[in-house]
Amino acid sequence: MADGLSVKDGSHRKSEDENTIIAEVFVPNGLEDSQPPMKTRVLPVDISKIGHVGFTSSLKSPLEDLIVTLDEASPDAAHLREAARHLRETNIPVAFPTETVYGLGADATRSAAVRGIYAAKRRPLDNPLIVHICSLSQLRSLLQPQPLLPRSSHTSDQRSPPNDPIPAIYAPLIQRFWPGPLTILLPSPPHSVLAPEVTAGLPTFGARMPSSLLALALIRLAGVPLAAPSANASTRPSPTTAQHVQHDLAGRIHLILDGGPCAVGVESTVADGLSHPPSILRPGGISLEQLRDCPGWEHTTVAYKDGAEPGTAPRAPGMKYKHYAPKARVVLVEAGGGGGGDSLLPPLVQTYVDQGARRVGILRTKRWTAFSAPMTRPADTPATNGPNNDPSLPLPTAARSTIPLDASASLRPANGIQVWEIALGESAPDIARSLFSGLRELDRRGVDVIFVEGIDDAEGDAAAAVMNRLRKAAEVEIGV
Ligand code: TXA
Ligand code: MG
Repeated sequence: MADGLSVKDGSHRKSEDENTIIAEVFVPNGLEDSQPPMKTRVLPVDISKIGHVGFTSSLKSPLEDLIVTLDEASPDAAHLREAARHLRETNIPVAFPTETVYGLGADATRSAAVRGIYAAKRRPLDNPLIVHICSLSQLRSLLQPQPLLPRSSHTSDQRSPPNDPIPAIYAPLIQRFWPGPLTILLPSPPHSVLAPEVTAGLPTFGARMPSSLLALALIRLAGVPLAAPSANASTRPSPTTAQHVQHDLAGRIHLILDGGPCAVGVESTVADGLSHPPSILRPGGISLEQLRDCPGWEHTTVAYKDGAEPGTAPRAPGMKYKHYAPKARVVLVEAGGGGGGDSLLPPLVQTYVDQGARRVGILRTKRWTAFSAPMTRPADTPATNGPNNDPSLPLPTAARSTIPLDASASLRPANGIQVWEIALGESAPDIARSLFSGLRELDRRGVDVIFVEGIDDAEGDAAAAVMNRLRKAAEVEIGV
């Protein structure tokens, strides 16, 4: 390892078998691999062509109800209608875009439908799901105790005004950030209409009103709240395009709605206003600073940890699992890691080449420049091509290329070492938008190792979310 670097090996090393996750996986009776693969269809939906989607607005409650009027002649509207019917009538989940990442949705009120999500994703059963709603009136209906109990038996010191079951602490958040990338924790009422599998036994449920019009329209047409985790196979990077979903879940679901790439690129912030002081359980599209700007949220605490710390149970159960990981080993260089900035990279890459890496991926952000460094071949490994077989001589510069995210370029091998680089962008929102695509693209190239240039968590926007996902994906962190 190059001088001056501090290296921390992650405690959540990946299993050799990419399908093995470090968690108990729920497998419903006979639903797993014994089932023949399903035919998976990708249905494009251009939301501007479906008709009309809009909120009924009143000054008091601008998000009260959502009205969707479909154009009968539109094929895009027909796709949306078919997906909504599928959600109502089957137990196989439907993948759909939100502004954060693609979700895998099911009717949150039916156990059999919700269990279909866990089966398709191979998701641990103790990881609760976020409930996606399309209007405040729909959310209120989830907070009412069911008729089995008289209303007076449902008590909470959090609620006001008297007739609104949404705790008052959330009013400024809903006003500023909904619809959008924010999930809030709410108390489950007695005899909740939600299937118990949604909450995984917790007394609360997470609710989010997405800003994607496609997602909102789908929920409205389905007529039920949709439980929806990210639509990746459990442990893999979240999907930000329909093609990512297809890669992970083809054969396991029937329908993927394709609404194009997601605008935010990382998942929603999970905020808990039921605790005192309020806290963030998962960083996401809304930053800590943005939350602290809201009345009642000035002292919001951070209740998540980026690393996998044994023995500590995070309050968002999902945060304890191996996550966001591509097949390749991820080496994360923290912002300013090793003090070397750009100059750190060549010796670092050389270290991994010495250990046998032949296909190398690089995700650049703010400071790293295009990679071009001569690398010496390890003494015990003959060159795989080219005339130079003397291990003491430096190899020519590795084949390298800077590729746009969707490029299909391939590289000529040069002495057995190939380097692919992707520039994620320089601003936190740009980096967030291309992060999961970048990890997946390098996986597609079959790289052995991915070096990622970290950014400063404190720069706001989605920076903390980006670094949280990267630290969870990384086997090795440098400069911490
Ligand atoms: O942006 C998003 O939130 C995406 C899109 C599809 O909406 N969804 C998503 O869901 O990321 P998922 O299932 O991948 O992550 C949900 C996170 C997990 O960390 C889970 O533990 C936490 O939210 N969560 C859900 N309900 C909770 C609850 N009642 N208490 C604490 N944490 C909860
Ligand atoms: Mg997820």
